[in-house]
Amino acid sequence: MPKPQKDDNPKGDRLNRTKLFKVDPENPDREVIRFAANKILEGGLVAFPTETVYGLGANAFNAEAVNRIFKAKKRPFSDPIIVHIASINQLETVAENIPELAWRLAQRFWPGPLTIIVARSRRVPPNVSSGLPTVAVRMPNHRVPLALIEESGVPIAAPSANLFSRPSATLAQHVIDDFGGEVDVVLDGGPAPIGLESTVLDLTQSPARILRPGGTPVEALREILPEVSYIPKYLFTETAEAASPGMLMKHYSPKARLLLFMGSSDRVLTRMREAVEELLREGKRVGLLVPSEDYATLREFRVEFSLLGPESDLNQVGFNLFSGMRDLDSREVDVILVRGFGLDGLGLAIWDRLVRAAEGNIIHV
Ligand code: TXA
Ligand code: MG
Repeated sequence: MPKPQKDDNPKGDRLNRTKLFKVDPENPDREVIRFAANKILEGGLVAFPTETVYGLGANAFNAEAVNRIFKAKKRPFSDPIIVHIASINQLETVAENIPELAWRLAQRFWPGPLTIIVARSRRVPPNVSSGLPTVAVRMPNHRVPLALIEESGVPIAAPSANLFSRPSATLAQHVIDDFGGEVDVVLDGGPAPIGLESTVLDLTQSPARILRPGGTPVEALREILPEVSYIPKYLFTETAEAASPGMLMKHYSPKARLLLFMGSSDRVLTRMREAVEELLREGKRVGLLVPSEDYATLREFRVEFSLLGPESDLNQVGFNLFSGMRDLDSREVDVILVRGFGLDGLGLAIWDRLVRAAEGNIIHV
Protein backbone atom coordinates (compact mmCIF):
# COMPACT_ATOMS: atom_id res chain seq x y z
CA MET A 1 0.00 0.00 0.00
CA PRO A 2 1.32 3.51 -0.74
CA LYS A 3 2.63 5.22 2.40
CA PRO A 4 0.49 8.03 3.81
CA GLN A 5 1.77 11.48 2.90
CA LYS A 6 3.73 13.51 5.43
CA ASP A 7 1.99 16.69 6.31
CA ASP A 8 3.55 19.97 7.34
CA ASN A 9 0.39 21.43 8.80
CA PRO A 10 1.10 23.68 11.80
CA LYS A 11 -1.57 21.87 13.84
CA GLY A 12 1.21 19.43 14.63
CA ASP A 13 0.39 16.65 17.08
CA ARG A 14 -3.30 16.52 16.39
CA LEU A 15 -2.47 15.51 12.86
CA ASN A 16 -0.55 12.42 13.82
CA ARG A 17 -3.79 10.49 13.94
CA THR A 18 -4.91 11.44 10.43
CA LYS A 19 -3.69 9.28 7.54
CA LEU A 20 -3.47 11.33 4.37
CA PHE A 21 -3.31 9.50 1.04
CA LYS A 22 -3.02 10.87 -2.48
CA VAL A 23 -5.36 8.95 -4.78
CA ASP A 24 -5.89 8.99 -8.52
CA PRO A 25 -9.40 10.44 -8.95
CA GLU A 26 -10.01 8.28 -12.03
CA ASN A 27 -8.55 5.06 -10.72
CA PRO A 28 -7.99 5.08 -6.94
CA ASP A 29 -5.52 2.56 -5.51
CA ARG A 30 -7.41 -0.56 -4.30
CA GLU A 31 -5.26 -0.94 -1.20
CA VAL A 32 -5.86 2.62 -0.08
CA ILE A 33 -9.60 2.26 -0.68
CA ARG A 34 -9.59 -0.98 1.31
CA PHE A 35 -7.80 0.72 4.20
CA ALA A 36 -10.31 3.60 4.17
CA ALA A 37 -13.28 1.20 3.86
CA ASN A 38 -12.07 -0.66 6.94
CA LYS A 39 -11.95 2.63 8.85
CA ILE A 40 -15.55 3.26 7.79
CA LEU A 41 -16.57 -0.22 9.01
CA GLU A 42 -14.75 0.37 12.32
CA GLY A 43 -16.86 3.49 12.88
CA GLY A 44 -14.19 5.96 11.76
CA LEU A 45 -14.34 9.19 9.76
CA VAL A 46 -13.00 9.33 6.20
CA ALA A 47 -12.85 12.53 4.13
CA PHE A 48 -13.00 12.11 0.36
CA PRO A 49 -13.45 14.17 -2.79
CA THR A 50 -16.72 14.13 -4.70
CA GLU A 51 -17.53 15.92 -7.95
CA THR A 52 -19.12 18.73 -5.89
CA VAL A 53 -17.06 19.32 -2.72
CA TYR A 54 -15.14 17.14 -0.25
CA GLY A 55 -17.31 15.05 2.07
CA LEU A 56 -16.68 13.92 5.67
CA GLY A 57 -18.00 10.37 5.70
CA ALA A 58 -19.07 7.69 8.17
CA ASN A 59 -21.04 4.44 7.94
CA ALA A 60 -24.63 5.64 7.47
CA PHE A 61 -25.91 2.57 9.38
CA ASN A 62 -23.78 3.33 12.45
CA ALA A 63 -25.39 5.99 14.70
CA GLU A 64 -22.29 6.43 16.84
CA ALA A 65 -20.04 6.99 13.84
CA VAL A 66 -22.54 9.54 12.51
CA ASN A 67 -22.44 11.31 15.87
CA ARG A 68 -18.70 11.73 15.42
CA ILE A 69 -19.38 13.69 12.22
CA PHE A 70 -21.60 16.18 14.05
CA LYS A 71 -18.99 16.61 16.79
CA ALA A 72 -16.05 17.01 14.41
CA LYS A 73 -17.93 19.60 12.33
CA LYS A 74 -19.39 21.36 15.41
CA ARG A 75 -22.62 21.00 13.49
CA PRO A 76 -25.95 21.34 15.31
CA PHE A 77 -27.67 17.96 15.66
CA SER A 78 -30.70 19.59 14.03
CA ASP A 79 -29.00 19.75 10.60
CA PRO A 80 -29.47 16.42 8.77
CA ILE A 81 -26.82 14.68 6.65
CA ILE A 82 -26.87 13.35 3.07
CA VAL A 83 -26.44 9.60 2.56
CA HIS A 84 -24.23 8.60 -0.40
CA ILE A 85 -24.78 5.41 -2.37
CA ALA A 86 -22.82 3.72 -5.18
CA SER A 87 -25.66 2.44 -7.37
CA ILE A 88 -29.21 3.46 -8.12
CA ASN A 89 -30.53 0.19 -6.65
CA GLN A 90 -28.85 0.89 -3.33
CA LEU A 91 -31.52 3.57 -2.82
CA GLU A 92 -33.76 0.75 -1.56
CA THR A 93 -31.43 0.04 1.34
CA VAL A 94 -31.81 3.57 2.77
CA ALA A 95 -35.30 4.67 1.70
CA GLU A 96 -38.91 3.44 1.81
CA ASN A 97 -42.01 3.98 -0.32
CA ILE A 98 -39.79 5.31 -3.08
CA PRO A 99 -41.94 7.24 -5.56
CA GLU A 100 -41.67 6.58 -9.28
CA LEU A 101 -40.40 10.15 -9.71
CA ALA A 102 -37.34 9.31 -7.59
CA TRP A 103 -36.35 6.49 -9.96
CA ARG A 104 -36.82 8.69 -13.00
CA LEU A 105 -34.67 11.44 -11.51
CA ALA A 106 -32.04 8.89 -10.49
CA GLN A 107 -31.94 7.41 -14.00
CA ARG A 108 -31.49 10.84 -15.51
CA PHE A 109 -29.19 12.57 -12.99
CA TRP A 110 -27.19 9.88 -11.13
CA PRO A 111 -24.37 9.63 -10.67
CA GLY A 112 -24.30 13.39 -10.28
CA PRO A 113 -24.87 16.50 -8.15
CA LEU A 114 -28.53 15.89 -7.30
CA THR A 115 -29.69 14.96 -3.80
CA ILE A 116 -33.27 13.73 -3.38
CA ILE A 117 -35.25 13.62 -0.16
CA VAL A 118 -37.49 10.59 0.31
CA ALA A 119 -38.92 8.55 3.21
CA ARG A 120 -36.18 7.12 5.44
CA SER A 121 -35.73 3.39 5.88
CA ARG A 122 -35.57 2.17 9.50
CA ARG A 123 -32.11 0.81 8.76
CA VAL A 124 -30.83 4.40 8.67
CA PRO A 125 -30.53 5.64 12.27
CA PRO A 126 -32.59 8.76 13.10
CA ASN A 127 -29.58 10.96 13.90
CA VAL A 128 -28.51 10.89 10.22
CA SER A 129 -31.69 12.84 9.47
CA SER A 130 -31.88 14.75 12.76
CA GLY A 131 -34.93 12.71 13.71
CA LEU A 132 -36.88 13.49 10.53
CA PRO A 133 -38.82 10.64 8.90
CA THR A 134 -37.01 11.48 5.65
CA VAL A 135 -33.53 10.89 4.25
CA ALA A 136 -31.46 12.85 1.72
CA VAL A 137 -29.70 10.57 -0.79
CA ARG A 138 -27.30 10.99 -3.66
CA MET A 139 -24.99 8.95 -5.86
CA PRO A 140 -21.84 11.00 -6.44
CA ASN A 141 -20.16 11.11 -9.83
CA HIS A 142 -16.64 10.46 -8.57
CA ARG A 143 -14.65 7.21 -8.55
CA VAL A 144 -13.23 7.71 -5.06
CA PRO A 145 -16.50 7.74 -3.05
CA LEU A 146 -18.05 5.15 -5.39
CA ALA A 147 -15.13 2.78 -4.78
CA LEU A 148 -15.22 3.50 -1.04
CA ILE A 149 -18.95 2.75 -0.77
CA GLU A 150 -18.61 -0.40 -2.90
CA GLU A 151 -15.63 -1.65 -0.91
CA SER A 152 -17.19 -0.99 2.50
CA GLY A 153 -20.56 -2.39 1.43
CA VAL A 154 -22.47 0.29 3.34
CA PRO A 155 -23.96 3.65 2.37
CA ILE A 156 -21.89 6.60 3.61
CA ALA A 157 -23.38 9.58 5.44
CA ALA A 158 -21.36 12.66 4.57
CA PRO A 159 -21.84 16.40 4.94
CA SER A 160 -19.44 18.78 3.26
CA ALA A 161 -16.04 18.44 4.95
CA ASN A 162 -15.83 21.90 6.49
CA LEU A 163 -16.41 23.22 9.99
CA PHE A 164 -20.04 24.23 10.45
CA SER A 165 -20.90 27.50 8.66
CA ARG A 166 -17.47 27.81 6.99
CA PRO A 167 -16.90 27.69 3.22
CA SER A 168 -17.05 24.12 1.89
CA ALA A 169 -13.80 22.27 1.24
CA THR A 170 -12.85 21.84 -2.41
CA LEU A 171 -9.28 20.62 -1.73
CA ALA A 172 -7.91 18.03 0.69
CA GLN A 173 -5.85 20.83 2.24
CA HIS A 174 -9.07 22.65 3.20
CA VAL A 175 -10.18 19.52 5.10
CA ILE A 176 -6.87 19.37 6.94
CA ASP A 177 -7.03 23.10 7.71
CA ASP A 178 -10.48 22.67 9.30
CA PHE A 179 -10.13 19.32 11.05
CA GLY A 180 -6.47 18.64 11.76
CA GLY A 181 -6.27 15.21 13.36
CA GLU A 182 -9.98 14.72 14.07
CA VAL A 183 -10.46 12.69 10.89
CA ASP A 184 -9.04 9.17 10.58
CA VAL A 185 -8.34 9.20 6.84
CA VAL A 186 -8.18 11.96 4.22
CA LEU A 187 -8.22 10.82 0.60
CA ASP A 188 -6.65 13.55 -1.52
CA GLY A 189 -8.03 13.14 -5.02
CA GLY A 190 -7.20 16.67 -6.14
CA PRO A 191 -9.67 19.55 -6.54
CA ALA A 192 -13.41 18.80 -6.47
CA PRO A 193 -14.39 19.46 -10.11
CA ILE A 194 -17.62 21.43 -9.59
CA GLY A 195 -16.72 23.23 -6.38
CA LEU A 196 -20.36 23.82 -5.35
CA GLU A 197 -22.59 21.36 -3.45
CA SER A 198 -25.38 19.27 -4.94
CA THR A 199 -28.89 20.52 -5.62
CA VAL A 200 -31.24 19.31 -2.87
CA LEU A 201 -34.71 18.37 -4.08
CA ASP A 202 -37.47 17.40 -1.64
CA LEU A 203 -39.74 14.70 -3.12
CA THR A 204 -41.76 14.28 0.08
CA GLN A 205 -43.64 17.49 -0.72
CA SER A 206 -46.02 17.86 -3.61
CA PRO A 207 -45.04 19.49 -5.88
CA ALA A 208 -41.37 18.61 -5.34
CA ARG A 209 -39.38 21.53 -3.97
CA ILE A 210 -35.79 22.65 -4.34
CA LEU A 211 -34.33 23.25 -0.88
CA ARG A 212 -30.86 24.20 -2.08
CA PRO A 213 -29.78 25.15 -5.62
CA GLY A 214 -26.53 23.44 -6.57
CA GLY A 215 -24.56 21.57 -9.19
CA THR A 216 -27.64 20.35 -11.11
CA PRO A 217 -29.21 23.53 -12.54
CA VAL A 218 -32.95 24.12 -12.15
CA GLU A 219 -33.17 24.30 -15.96
CA ALA A 220 -31.96 20.68 -16.21
CA LEU A 221 -34.45 19.48 -13.58
CA ARG A 222 -37.27 21.00 -15.67
CA GLU A 223 -36.80 18.21 -18.24
CA ILE A 224 -38.49 15.96 -15.70
CA LEU A 225 -40.20 18.52 -13.44
CA PRO A 226 -41.41 21.27 -15.80
CA GLU A 227 -42.85 23.41 -12.99
CA VAL A 228 -39.99 23.22 -10.52
CA SER A 229 -38.53 26.47 -9.21
CA TYR A 230 -36.49 27.69 -6.28
CA ILE A 231 -38.05 30.00 -3.73
CA PRO A 232 -35.37 31.02 -1.27
CA LYS A 233 -36.52 31.21 2.32
CA TYR A 234 -33.45 32.45 4.08
CA LEU A 235 -33.73 32.56 7.80
CA PHE A 236 -31.66 34.65 10.09
CA THR A 237 -32.02 32.32 13.04
CA GLU A 238 -32.90 28.73 13.56
CA THR A 239 -36.59 28.41 14.34
CA ALA A 240 -39.12 25.62 14.62
CA GLU A 241 -40.63 26.80 11.33
CA ALA A 242 -37.34 26.42 9.42
CA ALA A 243 -38.31 25.27 5.94
CA SER A 244 -35.20 23.13 5.74
CA PRO A 245 -32.98 22.63 8.72
CA GLY A 246 -29.97 23.78 6.69
CA MET A 247 -31.46 27.09 5.65
CA LEU A 248 -29.73 29.25 8.19
CA MET A 249 -28.70 32.57 6.78
CA LYS A 250 -25.14 32.39 8.10
CA HIS A 251 -23.45 29.67 6.13
CA TYR A 252 -20.43 29.16 3.94
CA SER A 253 -18.93 32.27 5.54
CA PRO A 254 -15.32 33.32 5.28
CA LYS A 255 -13.75 34.82 8.40
CA ALA A 256 -13.65 38.21 6.70
CA ARG A 257 -16.85 40.23 6.31
CA LEU A 258 -18.21 39.69 2.81
CA LEU A 259 -19.96 42.44 0.84
CA LEU A 260 -22.04 41.28 -2.11
CA PHE A 261 -22.76 43.79 -4.90
CA MET A 262 -25.74 43.14 -7.16
CA GLY A 263 -26.73 44.98 -10.33
CA SER A 264 -25.49 45.65 -13.84
CA SER A 265 -21.74 45.14 -14.34
CA ASP A 266 -20.65 48.73 -14.98
CA ARG A 267 -22.64 50.17 -12.09
CA VAL A 268 -21.43 47.46 -9.76
CA LEU A 269 -17.83 48.17 -10.74
CA THR A 270 -18.22 51.88 -10.10
CA ARG A 271 -19.78 51.23 -6.69
CA MET A 272 -17.12 48.64 -5.86
CA ARG A 273 -14.33 51.13 -6.66
CA GLU A 274 -15.91 53.65 -4.29
CA ALA A 275 -16.25 51.02 -1.59
CA VAL A 276 -12.61 49.93 -2.00
CA GLU A 277 -11.39 53.55 -1.71
CA GLU A 278 -13.47 54.08 1.41
CA LEU A 279 -12.33 50.85 3.06
CA LEU A 280 -8.67 51.58 2.25
CA ARG A 281 -9.06 55.07 3.78
CA GLU A 282 -10.35 53.39 6.93
CA GLY A 283 -7.15 51.31 6.96
CA LYS A 284 -8.91 48.02 6.20
CA ARG A 285 -7.25 45.11 4.42
CA VAL A 286 -9.42 44.53 1.38
CA GLY A 287 -9.85 41.34 -0.65
CA LEU A 288 -11.44 41.30 -4.11
CA LEU A 289 -12.98 38.02 -5.25
CA VAL A 290 -13.60 38.95 -8.87
CA PRO A 291 -13.74 37.58 -12.42
CA SER A 292 -10.66 38.12 -14.61
CA GLU A 293 -12.38 40.97 -16.50
CA ASP A 294 -12.72 43.04 -13.30
CA TYR A 295 -9.06 42.57 -12.45
CA ALA A 296 -8.08 44.65 -15.49
CA THR A 297 -10.03 47.65 -14.19
CA LEU A 298 -9.28 47.25 -10.47
CA ARG A 299 -5.64 46.22 -10.50
CA GLU A 300 -4.36 49.68 -9.50
CA PHE A 301 -5.70 49.17 -5.96
CA ARG A 302 -3.44 47.92 -3.18
CA VAL A 303 -5.70 45.04 -2.29
CA GLU A 304 -5.56 41.24 -2.29
CA PHE A 305 -7.00 39.66 -5.42
CA SER A 306 -8.42 36.18 -5.85
CA LEU A 307 -9.60 35.56 -9.40
CA LEU A 308 -12.69 33.54 -10.28
CA GLY A 309 -11.98 33.05 -14.01
CA PRO A 310 -13.89 34.61 -16.91
CA GLU A 311 -17.25 36.09 -15.96
CA SER A 312 -19.01 34.15 -18.74
CA ASP A 313 -17.69 30.78 -17.55
CA LEU A 314 -19.87 29.93 -14.55
CA ASN A 315 -18.22 26.50 -14.22
CA GLN A 316 -14.93 28.22 -13.45
CA VAL A 317 -16.53 30.83 -11.20
CA GLY A 318 -18.25 28.05 -9.21
CA PHE A 319 -15.06 26.00 -9.09
CA ASN A 320 -13.08 28.94 -7.66
CA LEU A 321 -15.70 30.39 -5.31
CA PHE A 322 -15.10 28.61 -1.99
CA SER A 323 -11.36 28.22 -2.54
CA GLY A 324 -11.20 31.96 -3.29
CA MET A 325 -12.90 32.79 0.02
CA ARG A 326 -10.50 30.53 1.89
CA ASP A 327 -7.56 31.94 -0.04
CA LEU A 328 -8.44 35.55 0.90
CA ASP A 329 -9.04 34.50 4.52
CA SER A 330 -5.56 33.01 4.63
CA ARG A 331 -4.22 36.39 3.47
CA GLU A 332 -6.02 37.88 6.48
CA VAL A 333 -8.18 40.45 4.78
CA ASP A 334 -10.85 42.25 6.84
CA VAL A 335 -13.40 42.54 4.05
CA ILE A 336 -14.09 40.64 0.84
CA LEU A 337 -15.92 42.36 -2.04
CA VAL A 338 -17.68 40.19 -4.56
CA ARG A 339 -20.51 40.46 -7.09
CA GLY A 340 -23.30 38.23 -8.35
CA PHE A 341 -23.26 36.31 -11.65
CA GLY A 342 -26.92 36.29 -12.60
CA LEU A 343 -29.46 33.65 -11.69
CA ASP A 344 -29.27 31.34 -14.73
CA GLY A 345 -27.70 27.89 -14.66
CA LEU A 346 -25.01 27.62 -11.98
CA GLY A 347 -25.47 31.37 -11.35
CA LEU A 348 -28.34 30.54 -8.98
CA ALA A 349 -26.20 28.26 -6.79
CA ILE A 350 -23.37 30.83 -6.86
CA TRP A 351 -25.81 33.58 -5.85
CA ASP A 352 -27.21 31.43 -3.01
CA ARG A 353 -23.73 30.74 -1.58
CA LEU A 354 -22.77 34.42 -1.86
CA VAL A 355 -25.96 35.67 -0.19
CA ARG A 356 -25.37 33.32 2.71
CA ALA A 357 -21.65 34.11 2.91
CA ALA A 358 -22.60 37.81 2.98
CA GLU A 359 -25.04 37.11 5.83
CA GLY A 360 -27.43 39.52 4.20
CA ASN A 361 -24.82 42.26 3.48
CA ILE A 362 -26.08 42.90 -0.06
CA ILE A 363 -25.54 46.19 -1.83
CA HIS A 364 -27.99 46.72 -4.68
CA VAL A 365 -26.79 49.29 -7.20
O1 TXA B 1 -22.64 18.06 -2.78
C1 TXA B 1 -23.06 17.79 -1.66
O2 TXA B 1 -24.26 17.70 -1.41
C2 TXA B 1 -22.02 17.53 -0.56
C3 TXA B 1 -21.22 16.30 -0.92
C4 TXA B 1 -20.25 15.91 0.16
O3 TXA B 1 -22.10 15.26 -1.24
N1 TXA B 1 -22.66 17.40 0.71
C5 TXA B 1 -23.22 18.46 1.36
O4 TXA B 1 -23.75 18.12 2.59
O5 TXA B 1 -23.26 19.57 0.90
P1 TXA B 1 -24.17 19.24 3.66
O6 TXA B 1 -24.46 18.47 4.90
O7 TXA B 1 -23.14 20.28 3.76
O8 TXA B 1 -25.51 19.80 3.11
C6 TXA B 1 -26.66 18.98 3.07
C7 TXA B 1 -27.89 19.79 2.98
C8 TXA B 1 -28.13 20.58 4.25
O9 TXA B 1 -28.64 21.85 3.88
C9 TXA B 1 -29.19 19.76 4.98
O10 TXA B 1 -29.99 20.53 5.82
C10 TXA B 1 -29.97 19.18 3.81
O11 TXA B 1 -29.01 18.92 2.83
N2 TXA B 1 -30.62 17.92 4.20
C11 TXA B 1 -30.02 16.73 4.46
N3 TXA B 1 -30.94 15.81 4.81
C12 TXA B 1 -32.14 16.41 4.77
C13 TXA B 1 -33.48 15.99 5.04
N4 TXA B 1 -33.75 14.74 5.42
N5 TXA B 1 -34.46 16.92 4.92
C14 TXA B 1 -34.18 18.20 4.52
N6 TXA B 1 -32.94 18.65 4.25
C15 TXA B 1 -31.95 17.78 4.38
MG1 MG C 1 -22.26 22.00 4.04
